[in-house]
Amino acid sequence: MRALSGIKPTGELHLGNYFAAMKQHIELQYEHEGFYFIANYHSLTTVHDAEFLRQLTRNVAMDYLTMGLDPGRVNLFRQSDVPEVTELAWILATVTGKGLMDRATTYKDYVAKGIVPNMGIYCYPLLMAADILIYRSDIVPVGRDQVQHIEFTQDMAGYFNQTFRPVFKRPEARLNETPVVPGLDGQKMSKSYNNVIELFGDPKVIRKKIMSIKTDSTPVEAPKEPENCNVFRLIKLMASPEETAEWERRYRAGGMGYGEAKQRLYELWEAQFGSRRELRAQWAARPDDVEDILRTGGRKAREVAREVMAEVRDACGIVRAADL
Ligand code: ADP
Ligand code: TRP
Repeated sequence: MRALSGIKPTGELHLGNYFAAMKQHIELQYEHEGFYFIANYHSLTTVHDAEFLRQLTRNVAMDYLTMGLDPGRVNLFRQSDVPEVTELAWILATVTGKGLMDRATTYKDYVAKGIVPNMGIYCYPLLMAADILIYRSDIVPVGRDQVQHIEFTQDMAGYFNQTFRPVFKRPEARLNETPVVPGLDGQKMSKSYNNVIELFGDPKVIRKKIMSIKTDSTPVEAPKEPENCNVFRLIKLMASPEETAEWERRYRAGGMGYGEAKQRLYELWEAQFGSRRELRAQWAARPDDVEDILRTGGRKAREVAREVMAEVRDACGIVRAADL
């Protein structure tokens, strides 16, 4: 079984990205063959600053390595090191109805936010389908908001197979139990809402952020419903099941202030991510090694992509001289 997923380098990674996506990529490396890439072509739909994009791309690689992705087990690579994906995205565009693209919720969300979408945003699902299909991926571990994109990918594989001949296999989304991770203000944690807790932020800044998490005004003595509290929902992601059960009990019993829960949340963050700050700095000091890892991963990924694309071109009658 081959597992594939991508993370867009559009900002510093936060707890939402880690618990919904990255964590399961790291866990799955022990079970499946893994292809994990940094989706820099996708970032280009919103990031138009060359140096910033280069920096974000390196940062995602270092975050993955710091959190335990093992390049000896899986291929970690840059999307752009396999340029065949953009070619496949075009071919998929020619067998996909415009109506499907119109239904994409991510595109509709941009429009709803008043952003005038560029064609990259509109065509985003085509490139994502190409990413998945070009490596003949079996499972795609992602967060819930990406499920529609995987369904589109299944549709596009079908359109291609029916129009030409069966080349692509049907990939399946793989979700973990992590629900939507709340941000400081209780909305979905997201770079675009400016409400994130970063994985490797400055501890003083992170502590301040955690202390500012929005809570209700229930008095200290009153019993509280843990699931309604953003602090508890974040504690639950990081604490042991026993500790989580104890917090649930204390919330319901009353007599506990949110300040105490926030302090514990900070300690949990520090234990899980702060403890790796040193390791993160070590990766940052070895840019050549990070580059080597990405190149090795890219080479292996491209080998698969080249083979699949030769079949794709043959199936649809695109002739290309191999030796130009
Ligand atoms: P952002 O919203 O910060 O721009 P992305 O859209 O780049 O984050 O998300 C990358 C991945 O992380 C996706 O698979 C998405 O499902 C997951 N993700 C991001 N934020 C959250 C969140 N708050 N809760 C759950 N999953 C999230
Ligand atoms: N769209 C994904 C996100 O925003 C990133 C992504 C790009 C991806 N291509 C992919 C995820 C292919 C899984 C498979 O998180």
